[in-house]
Amino acid sequence: MKVGLIPTDCPNAMDEKAVTAKDIIEGQLNAGERAFITSAILDAPVKTQVALEVGTWLGGGSTLHILRALHANGVGHLWGVEASKDIYERMTANIRAAVPEAADRFTPIFGFSNKVLPVWLNGLPAGAEVDFVFLDGGDNPYEQVEEFKLLSPRIRVGGVLMAHDARTRKGKWLAHYVGLLDNWETEVFDISSEGVFRARKIKPEPSAASRKAAKRKLNIMRLEPMELVARFLPSPVCGLILRALPKRLSRRLTLGAGI
Ligand SMILES: C[S@@+](CC[C@H](N)C(=O)[O-])C[C@H]1O[C@@H](n2cnc3c(N)ncnc32)[C@H](O)[C@@H]1O
Repeated sequence: MKVGLIPTDCPNAMDEKAVTAKDIIEGQLNAGERAFITSAILDAPVKTQVALEVGTWLGGGSTLHILRALHANGVGHLWGVEASKDIYERMTANIRAAVPEAADRFTPIFGFSNKVLPVWLNGLPAGAEVDFVFLDGGDNPYEQVEEFKLLSPRIRVGGVLMAHDARTRKGKWLAHYVGLLDNWETEVFDISSEGVFRARKIKPEPSAASRKAAKRKLNIMRLEPMELVARFLPSPVCGLILRALPKRLSRRLTLGAGI
């Protein structure tokens, strides 16, 4: 995985060697990305109380580092959503073993984000708001948008939402969509070739015009020929076609070009 620059507004970013040395469970983010999300919590002007992650995988990439940052702050709780049963079980065991001191700050949630997030949001105390979100779940680009739509009304003004893969098919819809909403300040950081998206909520609601522009852009992206093929062809047929294509072309079609 290509390692890019740690953004300069990331004062608590640890050096890469230090992060890697402490890494005891498998994770998919590179050292710069881990440092970047850590810094978003350590350097937040208001301490993170409620943090939510979608797509923990085995826990060593994002989960462990978010938890360590909350523990260092001395406040906050992380809820981590994971849809694969086997991975979920390994992740919960990994986290208990790796950060026992912060285990009581962590609640794993098993299930698909679109099913479990509405339940999780309903279970939050009335008036409670979300401070920090990290999205790194499924590969279907609509999923991050759906997760954003569910979560954004409960994210507090000043709260931060980050998402992985902003330069690839998985995350570029979200980056374009939220980039057009005028109640969010957004940026994509090239810390890896996949890119990390960061959005800060600056107003409770978008203007009607910006909401309309974002919706229009999303519809256009969903109508791209490759997306229509992916949406309407049965997945075994898609798989067959992709396997028949040269590897580079099939990777380009599934991962998508940069934005
Ligand atoms: C790219 S990995 C996450 C990597 C992890 N954030 C890390 O830093 O190591 C994506 C994970 O999301 C899970 N996943 C996929 N779709 C999901 C969904 N709709 N809801 C929750 N988890 C999902 C997968 O099982 C997988 O473990």
